[in-house]
Order: sequence, then C-alpha cells, then structure tokens
Amino acid sequence: MSTTTIPTTMRGVLCTAVGSPSVLSYRTDLPVPRPSAGQVLIRNTYAGINYIDTYFRAGIYPSPKPEILGRDGEGVIVALGEGETYGLHVGAKVVWMGSGGYAEYSAVSALHVAPVPEGIPETIAVASLLQGLTALTMIREAHPTKRGEWVLVHAAAGGVGLWLCQLLKAVGARVIGTASTVQKVEEAHRAGAEYMINYSEEKTDVVARVLEITGGVGVDAVFDGVGKDTFDDDLKVVKRKGTVVSFGNASGVVPPFAISKLAPKCIKLLRPQVFGYITTRQEFTTYTAELFRFIQENKMEVKIHKVYELEDVQRVHEDLEGRRTMGKLLMRI
Ligand SMILES: NC(=O)c1ccc[n+]([C@@H]2O[C@H](COP(=O)([O-])OP(=O)(O)OC[C@H]3O[C@@H](n4cnc5c(N)ncnc54)[C@H](OP(=O)(O)O)[C@@H]3O)[C@@H](O)[C@H]2O)c1
Repeated sequence: MSTTTIPTTMRGVLCTAVGSPSVLSYRTDLPVPRPSAGQVLIRNTYAGINYIDTYFRAGIYPSPKPEILGRDGEGVIVALGEGETYGLHVGAKVVWMGSGGYAEYSAVSALHVAPVPEGIPETIAVASLLQGLTALTMIREAHPTKRGEWVLVHAAAGGVGLWLCQLLKAVGARVIGTASTVQKVEEAHRAGAEYMINYSEEKTDVVARVLEITGGVGVDAVFDGVGKDTFDDDLKVVKRKGTVVSFGNASGVVPPFAISKLAPKCIKLLRPQVFGYITTRQEFTTYTAELFRFIQENKMEVKIHKVYELEDVQRVHEDLEGRRTMGKLLMRI
C-alpha cells in the first residue's frame, strides 16, 4: 500500500440504528478505513446524498448497523490498496460510487472511481455521477428511448428526474413530467419536460391527463422512481407494448402484484439498478466519459439543490424525505 500521511481517526456520520433521521450521529472519532485489495482510499471533499441513503437508514433496504451511509463522493486519492487499481494514482482528484461517503475518508472499489476531467468545477462531477449515470443507463438500456417517443417521468424535478428530462429531450423524446409544487413544475419544464402535471393538486387525474396529452394512446415508457403511489397508474398510462421502468421507492415499495396485469397490453416491466449497468470497468468508464462530455460541452445543466455541512446531516435527510428539494444534495466534508 502506497500512502501519504493519513490520520487514524476522522470526522463522519454514523447511522447507529434503523430509524428516523435522529439515528444519524455526527462523530469526530471514527476509525479511518484501510483500503483492501482492489480499493483506493479517498480523502473526501464532498459527499453526495441520494434517496437510497434514506432506505438504508429506515431499514427499507436492510444493512448491518452501525454503518456509514453515502453512495458517492468527490475527493483526492491518498492511498492505493494491493491489486488492480486501474492506473489511478495518489494525489488524483476523483469522484467515486460505492459506500461509506458520509466521512472524511472512504475506502472504495477502484472500479467505480473516475478522475475528474479538466474544466469540470468542484462539486459538479460528484453532483452528476450517480444520478446522471442512473438516468443515462435507464434511457439507453432499460428502455432504449427513441426520437418522438412519449415518456412519463415521475418526480421530474428530483435529482434523477432533472437528468432524465434533459437526456430525454436531447434524444428527441417528448417528456411528460410529474412534480408536487409550482417551483418543481417550472424547474422540470426548464430541464426539458414539454408537459408537466402537478400530482399534488387534489383534482388532478394523472391518468386522464396523460391520455389526453397523448391523444388517448398512452406513453411509450414510464420512468418511475416514486414507486408505491404511482405504480398502478403507470400500468394505466403506458400504451400497448410499452415499457414501465420502476427504479425506486420514494413513496414506498411497490407491493407484490399479479403479473397477469401486464398481459392485456403486453407491457414490459423492469426493476433495474444503476450498478447492474456499470458492473465492469469498461461499462463504468464509457458511461462516465459520456456523462462528463455532456457537461464539458455545456449540453447538460447540473442542478445542485444545496451544499450542506456534514454536521447538518439530519436536516439533509429531513429535507429530502420532506420533498423540499430539487436536484442534487451535497455535504461539504
Ligand atoms: N435503481 C437505481 O439504480 C436508482 C439510482 C438512483 C436513484 N434511484 C431512485 O430514484 C428515485 C429518485 O432518487 P433521487 O435521489 O434523485 O431523489 P429525488 O427524486 O431528488 O427525491 C425524491 C422525490 O420523490 C418524490 N416523491 C413522491 N412521493 C414521495 C414521498 N411520498 N416521499 C418523498 N418523496 C416523494 C418527491 O418529488 P415531488 O415532490 O415532485 O413528488 C421527491 O423530491 C428514488 O426512488 C431513488 O431510490 C434509483
């Protein structure tokens, strides 16, 4: 292991048990992890927040506690583990996807670490990586979206949602988005949604509105990260031989259902996860290079809701679960 000077303890946030944001505990005495084979140790400057962090905290996705949450970060490599580290070097400024991001140091698999290209300002690469790759892989692989297709995007002003709006517009798809506030509706419109439906308004019938917009036909595809509250309607608004991509559970997990419901319209249904599309180093680097190119060429706008301090972690989770955010949330380390 080659290293620079590394302390033995660090600041970070421990998720001490399953529960509300109150189980997130800011500490100054956490042990600095050591990189094992195939890992690199990164001194983080920013940690990304993703909705999945709330699932691990709340126990929707089971994981051993105590644990350090956080699936992405930006920082500098300070040590390399043994084995394959893909030419990464100590001192490189990088972004990464993995686990343990709410801390000064993270030991993560080198496979999902990418150098930050010249010209991409601080925070932008980490604000883009996980949510941008999710949107990019969903429109390429889950439902390879074509020019002219109608696509419904739920939570269109969220982190993944704003990426989907921009990328779908770029490929020439026609986006109908949903969101819960006037500001979110405006933001998603700006990002490329042609029609927006405010699904928090009491009288809004989302199914009727989508069918009206699409001339009674329905959409070619639905991208749904909301889950429980929207899934049944997804099956109603998707057209014959259309695709429902259910990729998250912000409102709760979609309950088990009878697959025969898919039969009348021959619906394709997927429940993908981004890591399944970037499992190899080549997949990760190819998609990441494309994502960074979009940013360098000013083709995508990266919306950062707010940069919080690490000590404010409980409020970060409250804001995200309280539906008060648009775009990406970050914590300064
Ligand atoms: N499968 C994967 O690999 C993958 C990867 C990344 C993200 N995801 C999923 O994608 C979704 C979006 O993730 P994100 O990090 O970008 O979060 P986000 O969209 O920024 O935040 C979640 C949004 O969901 C909407 N929502 C609807 N009902 C909700 C409810 N009952 N409680 C809270 N929020 C509700 C809210 O928007 P409105 O107020 O406009 O309704 C909220 O802002 C999540 O489900 C996440 O798990 C999946």
